Amino acid sequence: MQTDNHASRILLGISGGIAAYKAPLLVRNLRTRGADVVPVLTQNASRFVTETALQAVADNRPRTELWDAEAEAAMGHIELARWADAVVIAPATANLIARLANGIADDLLTTLYLATTAPVFIAPAMNVKMWEHAATQRNIQRLRDDGVTVLGPAHGEQACGEFGPGRMIEPQEIAEAVTAAIGTPRVLDGTRVLITAGPTREFLDPVRFISNRSSGRQGFALAEAARNAGAEVTLVAGPVHLSTPTGIERIDVVSAREMKDAVTERAPDADIFVSVAAVADYRPHTVHDQKLKKSQQQSGDFRVALKENEDIVGSIAGVEPRPFVVGFAAETENPLEYAREKRRRKCMDAIVVNDVSDAAIGFDSSDNAVTLIHAGGEVGLPKMPKGAIARRLVDEIATLYASAGRG
Ligand code: CTP
Repeated sequence: MQTDNHASRILLGISGGIAAYKAPLLVRNLRTRGADVVPVLTQNASRFVTETALQAVADNRPRTELWDAEAEAAMGHIELARWADAVVIAPATANLIARLANGIADDLLTTLYLATTAPVFIAPAMNVKMWEHAATQRNIQRLRDDGVTVLGPAHGEQACGEFGPGRMIEPQEIAEAVTAAIGTPRVLDGTRVLITAGPTREFLDPVRFISNRSSGRQGFALAEAARNAGAEVTLVAGPVHLSTPTGIERIDVVSAREMKDAVTERAPDADIFVSVAAVADYRPHTVHDQKLKKSQQQSGDFRVALKENEDIVGSIAGVEPRPFVVGFAAETENPLEYAREKRRRKCMDAIVVNDVSDAAIGFDSSDNAVTLIHAGGEVGLPKMPKGAIARRLVDEIATLYASAGRG
């Protein structure tokens, strides 16, 4: 982590996959964000990208060899490992991932990995079958357990013509994730955070549903802020038009019942559960298989019988052992009174309330203003972008979580 005012120093490891051709672009993206970058190539990486190109964009001499006497004399590899604020390996091939996961230090990059105490980020890139292979998945899990942040891979068409997960995420996304993460104090390091976000949809027939105006933005911003603070984040998302922040596990759901199942399955593994989703309180009593025709209904008013959905956050907070639970409340009147009552009724450790009657904050807005209410007090956060609110909330939640004796 950065401790003084120097530019963030990044060791960019490049291994031998086709995506290595994007490495100069990644160097550019990192440098635009103020980073000082030293590229480190594996032997095979040099087959896809030249040292000359990297030297030109990084303005630092790329390193390739453990046995390069001249480079070692200028800065030895242990010194280089200490110099780094972060190690980013992009692309990370299946072979490199296997070597890292097993602590094999047989070249400069793998040696630096073992020698550094800086946070490590890897952006895997490989054929979909190689990515899905049990051995690769085992290695990835091992690296996650060792504290490595895995960025991607993305889904899409691959150089080999196949389709699926395995593509390296774009250089810009890597640069964003890394620079945000190393600039943020890791107040949630080692914790597992489960977050719900967005609305749910409760179908009446195949084309009609009951839902609400939640955009999911605040929940996604919170997921990203928690990741940047060092948490391993699982995001259970209702139907929203938002892309998944890198390094976060996302589970898409549609209805409240699907959301409940996804949360119930994962809550036992979570240290903190943040229920940001605007879960529909009711669903149609009957879900029709076919589109309802107007002629099927009696003339005039059409009444839909509704059935109550189970309360997700209440079902998690009410049973021990349970994670540290934070709820959200969107209110249009008496926000503080309603939220205090809700926190007690649902046995939540804390609740975040916002006043959605104010059009400048809440639902479709990119800004928000909230109050965090917990057993020991209340903290007001004035109007600011949802990302900034998320960062502040993560700090507050981390403090509460630690003082609850769970951290
Ligand atoms: N919540 C939930 N499951 C539900 C309904 C709500 O987990 N079926 C969670 C939300 O994610 C939020 C908190 O409960 O964290 C408060 O949601 P809200 O809809 O404001 O609560 P309600 O009890 O439905 O209160 P209201 O009477 O205001 O609708």
